[in-house]
Amino acid sequence: MKLSEKTQNAILDLQKCYPERRSALIPALHLAQTEIGYLPLEIQGEVAALFDISLNEVASVVTFYDMFFDKPVGKHILHICKNVSCMLRGSDGIIEKVCAKLQIKPGETTQDGEFTVISSECLAACDRAPMMLVDDKVVGPVHENGIDELLKEAKKGKGHPSPIEFHEADHV
Ligand code: FES
Repeated sequence: MKLSEKTQNAILDLQKCYPERRSALIPALHLAQTEIGYLPLEIQGEVAALFDISLNEVASVVTFYDMFFDKPVGKHILHICKNVSCMLRGSDGIIEKVCAKLQIKPGETTQDGEFTVISSECLAACDRAPMMLVDDKVVGPVHENGIDELLKEAKKGKGHPSPIEFHEADHV
């Protein structure tokens, strides 16, 4: 597994946008994840080499943020908030119900590869508590009796996106 030349060049271009090139690490990881689908150690190592930093530094960023995956994930990502506002409004029950319906635990992916469930810290939409992020869409307040419909709708989407996209015209 290896990053394409196109992704490597895009990462080098990104570094030029910042006074300190390591400031481009997070968008660079998004680019790498967009290409590969997740960030296994060998890809983290490639990114580290492009930044001339250690693998440990890259790994500490990848494992800190919920938006990066160091193992394969499902087509759709369900980030269910478990933080205080959502917890007080029943997020524990939502997480339990979603996981029971999908027959997985938080952090796992369904056998058909459709869904990965992640119980997340505050997702900055406390006014929608209890809420979840279905791929890139904020959904809430979530009601336990609306979960079937929510999963059905989620399946129609094109999957979890990367916030960073290639601009084809720039990288041909
Ligand atoms: S506590 Fe759930 S979005 Fe903030």
